[in-house]
Amino acid sequence: MLEAKNLSVRFGRRDILHGLSFAAKPGEITAIVGPNGSGKTTLLRALTGDVPFTGAAHLEGIDVARAKPWELAARRAVLAQFTGVAFPFTVAEIVRLGQASGLRAGQGDLTERALARVGLTGFGPRHYHDLSGGEQQRVQLARAIAQIWAPVGEAGANWLILDEPVASLDIAHQLEVMGVARDFARDGGGVVAVMHDLNLTAMFAGSVALMAQGRVVTQGSVDRVFTDAHLSSAYACELRVNTTPARGPFLLPHTAIA
Ligand SMILES: Nc1ncnc2c1ncn2[C@@H]1O[C@H](COP(=O)(O)OP(=O)(O)OP(=O)(O)O)[C@@H](O)[C@H]1O
Ligand SMILES: [Mg+2]
Repeated sequence: MLEAKNLSVRFGRRDILHGLSFAAKPGEITAIVGPNGSGKTTLLRALTGDVPFTGAAHLEGIDVARAKPWELAARRAVLAQFTGVAFPFTVAEIVRLGQASGLRAGQGDLTERALARVGLTGFGPRHYHDLSGGEQQRVQLARAIAQIWAPVGEAGANWLILDEPVASLDIAHQLEVMGVARDFARDGGGVVAVMHDLNLTAMFAGSVALMAQGRVVTQGSVDRVFTDAHLSSAYACELRVNTTPARGPFLLPHTAIA
């Protein structure tokens, strides 16, 4: 489990997260959705121990606030919303950095296998800065995968924490990356993903937390959270949830089509 209770974050004099609760279980993708500035990235950064918070956060029983950095690095890997790479690294070097920071540091080179999992076979020798934005995003996902590698280790589930993992990807690669995340979860791992595409969320998420103004407004199954009222209120625009018998909910921005 990845759990937060009464979690608050304050930057300077500003309260960003207001005593929220959040829970994710391994075996499914838990999505975090909500408008820009609602606190999604800040919640992820608190859950990964990257910003100070008050309240409680536990990852598979590990107290995030007290854990050593290596302890967390062995159990969860993070794909950040924006990842700058300052040096002229090759793709393989970046993926190896991920492996070096996790538990599998001495266990052979996972680079090619990690790249294959994100559809970038053969990209290892290329320079990271020469890749397209979408390719760079997938290299970062390969780095995260190389860090934790197994969905389940001796101590329990490992976690992929993904901040807008498909933001700059075309539709085929969105499906590919979400498929990688889903397979990781199906094999027993935990996945938390911040998402802006609500339709993609409906297709892939087992649970979804809807955020607005620094709070988790509601969390549960897609069917429970994706209602006209919840979404229209959180996003402050009129949204309509439709369903197809075969494929479940899909969304249309009603304001635009009325
Ligand atoms: N380091 C910081 N110092 C001060 N304020 C911050 C800091 N980081 C985030 N904030 C503020 O906290 C609020 C929530 O930001 P956050 O990045 O968590 O939003 P988000 O939901 O991820 O938005 P987006 O969808 O645009 O990525 C915003 O108002 C932002 O300006
Ligand atoms: Mg964000």
